[in-house]
Amino acid sequence: MDFKSIAEKRYTTKKFDATKKITDAQIEDLKHILKLSPSSINSQPWLFTFVSNEQVKNDLAHASYSNASKIKDASHLVVFSVMDNLEVFEKRVEENLLENSIKFYKQFVKTQTEEKTINWLSQQVYITLGFFLAACATMDIDSTPMEGIDPKKYKEILHIKDHKVLFSVALGHRHLDDDTQPNKIGKSRLTADTVIQSID
Ligand SMILES: Cc1cc2nc3c(=O)[nH]c(=O)nc-3n(C[C@H](O)[C@H](O)[C@H](O)COP(=O)(O)O)c2cc1C
Repeated sequence: MDFKSIAEKRYTTKKFDATKKITDAQIEDLKHILKLSPSSINSQPWLFTFVSNEQVKNDLAHASYSNASKIKDASHLVVFSVMDNLEVFEKRVEENLLENSIKFYKQFVKTQTEEKTINWLSQQVYITLGFFLAACATMDIDSTPMEGIDPKKYKEILHIKDHKVLFSVALGHRHLDDDTQPNKIGKSRLTADTVIQSID
């Protein structure tokens, strides 16, 4: 299927079929794809936590407000975090990045406030979300991106260090009863005239 059709077909799944699991091979592919995500100066300030353990997944569901039932029925939950310990991050920058990238970081990023720097790093993690949702759709995996979670509780449950939890994505296969599927209700978007301009 071409990417245009995939974009028309993918949607934020509101109800998963709890009997349908994603295979280990698909999860390995998704891990590999996430690792290949692009980021400014190749900074890669992220941590991706894949959860399939039912107990942990349920604990996270209870820390996810109205998203709880989606997470309980999903096959896997992937938690996206940004590195917020700048000392650790900068050591990684020095050890791994190209000279020009290190220069860019020191000149344009590090000179800002710590809050702005962490915001810039978080933007890099959001890029991986778009990449990931597109990858899932091409692999016929349904997904639910979620900011409606309690990041502090997630961090505690997952014992995450040096990172701040930003959002999570539930993965699985849609329940046929999910009334929000595009083939039932279409896609709701602003018109092209509103959001796209061409300078010819
Ligand atoms: C960063 C982000 C956070 C989101 N958080 C939630 C959420 O907590 N719960 C939910 O049901 N949908 C959430 N969504 C899904 C959006 O509401 C959805 O993408 C949008 O309405 C467009 O619908 P579609 O994805 O089905 O095309 C989120 C989407 C994004 C990109």
